Amino acid sequence: METTLLGQTGESVSELALGTIYFGSTIDAETSADILDTYYEAGGRFFDSANNYPTWLDGYDEPESEYFLGEWIEERGVRENVTVATKVGFNPPHLKERSLDPDLIRRSVDESLDRLGIETIDLLYAHVDDPDTPQTAYMEAFADVVEAEKVRHLGASNFPAWRVARANRIAADSGWSRFECVQPRFSYLIPDRDAGFGGQLPATDELVDYCNQHDLTLLPYSPTLQGAYGRDDRPISEGYVRSENRLKMEVTEDLAERKGVDGNAVALAWMLARDQFTVPIIGCSTVEQLEANLEAAAIDFTDAERERLDAIESYGFDEWDLR
Ligand SMILES: NC(=O)c1ccc[n+]([C@@H]2O[C@H](COP(=O)([O-])OP(=O)(O)OC[C@H]3O[C@@H](n4cnc5c(N)ncnc54)[C@H](OP(=O)(O)O)[C@@H]3O)[C@@H](O)[C@H]2O)c1
Repeated sequence: METTLLGQTGESVSELALGTIYFGSTIDAETSADILDTYYEAGGRFFDSANNYPTWLDGYDEPESEYFLGEWIEERGVRENVTVATKVGFNPPHLKERSLDPDLIRRSVDESLDRLGIETIDLLYAHVDDPDTPQTAYMEAFADVVEAEKVRHLGASNFPAWRVARANRIAADSGWSRFECVQPRFSYLIPDRDAGFGGQLPATDELVDYCNQHDLTLLPYSPTLQGAYGRDDRPISEGYVRSENRLKMEVTEDLAERKGVDGNAVALAWMLARDQFTVPIIGCSTVEQLEANLEAAAIDFTDAERERLDAIESYGFDEWDLR
């Protein structure tokens, strides 16, 4: 598996990250470990968790994902080879609401380190923005945990573009660590601009352009829209039913058939082929789904195919250069 630069850190991460949201909970331990092993054997080294996965589900009060990932890393002895990402601020287990309160950030980092059984979190995201805490206060708290070497790099998930820009301006002015990447809801299909997804914020043209202009890596979550590109039992989800998206589904299905791959792999390959550092976070509940999605790394589009994929509607503003 190839790698992609993580912001301006000078470090690279696997071009396809593995989401661990339901590992060790609704996805049983054996299957979860098989998926982790298969991804690792394929060269994957980048794991995505959060301090609330999956505490919103009945019967799961604890962040099983962090526990499970930590145990797997320990058992396989792979800590030195992998990049571990987790998140703070969205519905944490001991606080059923969103918050980036500075004390909560410091406490949550210690708790995540304990659960993961590691010394340092490689990438810590603000899971969601917190309009009630001054940005200066939470950026200082993030800088503190980096300074204390408990966290190496920072990211922002579910943030509006202007709030990432403002946070990074505050960090630059204060000599603090900045957000090196963003993790929005992002896929080949673009949702209706009025669609709501709870606390999940879709990427916007502004966010995509801001990341391009300022060297932030884009890490799309829910990249296959629950497998919709390759499954008859998964219709395009609510909020994505638009005429442009119907055309996009036709192109995806056609290219999948021509190349003999799953439509979900085509959607992921489109992300990898974008002219921007983009690392989709794969979600899957079986090894077969993972293997189908990993095929994205081997898909090459011709210029004509890329034009066809991009001609319907794409992200960002054309020919803007704000520098
Ligand atoms: N920052 C955030 O707010 C946020 C939000 C959501 C997710 N995430 C992260 O992103 C990761 C991925 O998100 P996601 O799970 O929503 O991704 P997704 O790709 O939209 O959905 C994954 C699901 O789609 C189906 N699927 C995927 N590939 C398939 C294939 N090749 N064939 C058939 N079905 C397939 C499976 O559904 P079934 O299991 O039903 O078969 C799978 O569990 C998460 O694990 C998490 O780390 C972050």
